[in-house]
Amino acid sequence: MRVLGFAGSPRKKGNTEILLNEILDVARKAGCETDAFLMSGKQVAPCDACGTCFELGTCIVQDDMQELYTKMEWADAIIFGSPVYFGSVSAQTKAAMDRMFALLRSRSLKGKVAGTLVVTRRVGAIQARSLLNSFCIAQGMIVAGGAIGYGREIGDVLTGVGGGIEMSAIDEARLLGSNVVELARRLR
Ligand SMILES: Cc1cc2nc3c(=O)[nH]c(=O)nc-3n(C[C@H](O)[C@H](O)[C@H](O)COP(=O)(O)O)c2cc1C
Repeated sequence: MRVLGFAGSPRKKGNTEILLNEILDVARKAGCETDAFLMSGKQVAPCDACGTCFELGTCIVQDDMQELYTKMEWADAIIFGSPVYFGSVSAQTKAAMDRMFALLRSRSLKGKVAGTLVVTRRVGAIQARSLLNSFCIAQGMIVAGGAIGYGREIGDVLTGVGGGIEMSAIDEARLLGSNVVELARRLR
């Protein structure tokens, strides 16, 4: 089983990356291969609506998105993680989501398991999670669940709460990791 983690924060080693690592750690301990794509070190341009993907089925824009396309094809399950920016996902996350329009024709994400992770200081977690869930459904993915982590400065999520009742952010991330692996295995 192969699990890919996507972190859409521009902040290196930030809260989204911290919780994503927890999720991937759970997957590794359950015997999965894992990989990660961290937007903090990447350049992904927004979709320019050139329409070429309608004809070719692939995106012709040559930037780090090409690496993400390859990694997503490799994965059986994908965790989409984003910080909350003004009640939404980050611009970096949205750029990658829009570039995945190119995958709709091939339906190459269809049937893969998804998990969603959002990190926020205080407000906007549910809106951002709804966007990620809607995106996964549009791609034909099967959403195993989601995790929310509350924190502002880097590392705050290590002691911060999660979205569930009496759940820490770390516990919620770990639960998402095990749910994603379990669903992917059941579907196999
Ligand atoms: C541009 C920007 C917008 C933000 N908007 C929100 C917001 O709407 N609600 C909120 O609670 N936190 C907001 N935050 C705080 C981040 O969600 C929070 O610091 C989070 O931990 C960042 O995750 P990261 O460390 O992975 O980048 C914002 C931060 C930035 C930089």
